[in-house]
Amino acid sequence: MRKLHPLAGVIALGLALLFWTSTLLVEVLGSISQIAWVKTTIPWVLPGMVLALIIAAASGRKLGSRVPSTTSAAAVLGAKAKRMPFLAGNGLLILIPSALFLAWKAEGGAFDEAFVAVQILELVAGAANITLMALNARDGRRLANLT
Ligand code: HEM
Repeated sequence: MRKLHPLAGVIALGLALLFWTSTLLVEVLGSISQIAWVKTTIPWVLPGMVLALIIAAASGRKLGSRVPSTTSAAAVLGAKAKRMPFLAGNGLLILIPSALFLAWKAEGGAFDEAFVAVQILELVAGAANITLMALNARDGRRLANLT
């Protein structure tokens, strides 16, 4: 569990970073066909990211259940747990629908105003989730030293 948890967490964070940076890079520097490739490939990898996040959340909860509630580790644990509903809500309500919508638009070559608006929304929500995951990884390092 102590090995699986950070591995799953780092895979989820790494894939989110990959989606975010490849989107930004290809849209600034790439051709239309390269943009279409990145935007239509992301939904195929997305289930892997969701799975890694579910494994990180479940294994984290299990590891956390052994932490006594009076210790300083419990406060760090609470901060990690509190971020999870925001991460999941952002993912389910904004990021997954956006990724599917953008792939559908890109597949049809429809790089219109709706594409740009949803793309901006996706980049902002994605940056928020990357930040939350990075904070959980940082607090995880702290926890590993405290427990
Ligand atoms: C995106 C979500 C998460 C990420 C990226 C993440 C990442 C990490 C990382 C990188 C570590 C450090 C492990 C080490 O240095 O050996 C860690 C440890 C830990 N995490 Fe998470 N974590 C996440 C969610 C959670 C959740 C939801 C909980 C529980 C509420 C949790 C509880 C713990 C605990 C208890 C440890 C310490 C394990 C030990 O003693 O070795 N994590 N986490």
